Amino acid sequence: MNLERLLQLGYSAERAAAFAYRGHARSLKDPEEKTHIARIEAEEWEHRDNLLRMLNRLHLRPSRWLEWKYACIGRLISASCHIIGYFAPMYFAGRLESGNVNEYLHMIELARGTAIADEIPCLLEMARVEKQHELYFLARIEAHWLLPWFRPWFRWGPGVSFNPMSAGEAEEPSTV
Ligand SMILES: [Fe+2]
Ligand SMILES: [Fe+2]
Repeated sequence: MNLERLLQLGYSAERAAAFAYRGHARSLKDPEEKTHIARIEAEEWEHRDNLLRMLNRLHLRPSRWLEWKYACIGRLISASCHIIGYFAPMYFAGRLESGNVNEYLHMIELARGTAIADEIPCLLEMARVEKQHELYFLARIEAHWLLPWFRPWFRWGPGVSFNPMSAGEAEEPSTV
């Protein structure tokens, strides 16, 4: 996928994530978890703002189709959080975040030498924040009895990630 399409996809997917986390936070009982997931939602909106700035700098517009598609996906996930229990929303949020890290790392590679090469530190910061999200959801489910059933099927869990970023790298800014 080229940089332009990846930026459009990320822009729309960030809104899906924000919608999903809004529903997820509302479906939870624990006040600390509610607050933390509301903060994750706010971070996804920030990511969307950053991606819009990058699209604008490249004289591109968001894709109408992706905006519609991901708004539907986000709302569907948001509603489903109220009926599918505690484990599945936490597990699939972590699994999705694990892939999001790679999308930002991929954007960094594609942004080199382009008009938005100076945005690479911002893209790296977003990759780090997505890794922090992944680790937060991992911590929520790593002791759950369902995890041994989900991990082999969905290929994500303790010690199995879709991205190469370490927990240390997620906490400390590294250079690119
Ligand atoms: Fe994000
Ligand atoms: Fe995230």
